[in-house]
Amino acid sequence: MSEQNRIAIVTGASRGLGLVIARVLARRGHTLVIGGRDRTALDDAAAELSSYARAVVPIAGDITDQFVRAALIDAADRLGGLNLLVNNASELGTVGPLMAFDIPRFGRLFPVNVGAPMVLTQMALPLLRARRGLIVNITSDAAIAAYPGWGPYGATKAALELLTRTLATELRDQGVSAVLVDPGDMRTRMHQEAFPGEDISDRPLPDVTVPFWNWLFDQDPDAVRGQRFAAQQETSKWLQPA
Ligand SMILES: NC(=O)c1ccc[n+]([C@@H]2O[C@H](COP(=O)([O-])OP(=O)(O)OC[C@H]3O[C@@H](n4cnc5c(N)ncnc54)[C@H](OP(=O)(O)O)[C@@H]3O)[C@@H](O)[C@H]2O)c1
Repeated sequence: MSEQNRIAIVTGASRGLGLVIARVLARRGHTLVIGGRDRTALDDAAAELSSYARAVVPIAGDITDQFVRAALIDAADRLGGLNLLVNNASELGTVGPLMAFDIPRFGRLFPVNVGAPMVLTQMALPLLRARRGLIVNITSDAAIAAYPGWGPYGATKAALELLTRTLATELRDQGVSAVLVDPGDMRTRMHQEAFPGEDISDRPLPDVTVPFWNWLFDQDPDAVRGQRFAAQQETSKWLQPA
């Protein structure tokens, strides 16, 4: 890794998987811009990360808000550029059968889970291009498997997957890479929301993905462009993406 000040944006880094990714990047010497709506939780995360990161800039707000997205990009620009954009922030929405689903609520899930990562990518592209950067979009097995009750969430992740693969192809000539990562089941707030009232203590904490992130961030972005990884697969399978 070069001596260059490496800069990353991680959305949804106030807790769960996003905070774990931010910790990995901080330990690898990245300067961080982190996002999330809950200002207190985000400031707590920033305070923890600041004890070992080069620098951390928290930007609180909803990822669907254009001013919040602009603030994330501006922060990276002011820090000197952008090597890595991790689109992790996501919402599950209501869990339940499609025939009982409040269809207008699609109007919330798609902007959060699909629109925001795409707009953020458009805004980040000039910075990413300058550093031959990497976009990591967090997906789910719900994008592929038809889990009863998770249809709307799964549909947003399926859309994100197709758009990410398309993006990876379209950005090849600009030297920017994009990958998909399915982190697998993890004991987080979102997972508890997916199984309301159930004991999810048998699921691993998101720290289980740390070895994968260290492996991915060691790779040349050109070598992984357009691939889909499952972070909890055995190590040898990372070389043969899911
Ligand atoms: N947990 C699993 O088993 C699992 C499995 C497969 C894929 N995933 C994926 O992994 C990623 C992380 O999920 P997680 O389990 O770590 O969830 P989580 O614990 O609920 O964390 C979600 C993070 O995103 C932020 N966020 C949510 N909506 C936001 C919005 N509209 N604007 C800005 N920030 C927002 C949250 O902060 P605020 O609420 O304060 O905004 C939080 O920091 C997601 O993309 C999810 O789809 C999770």
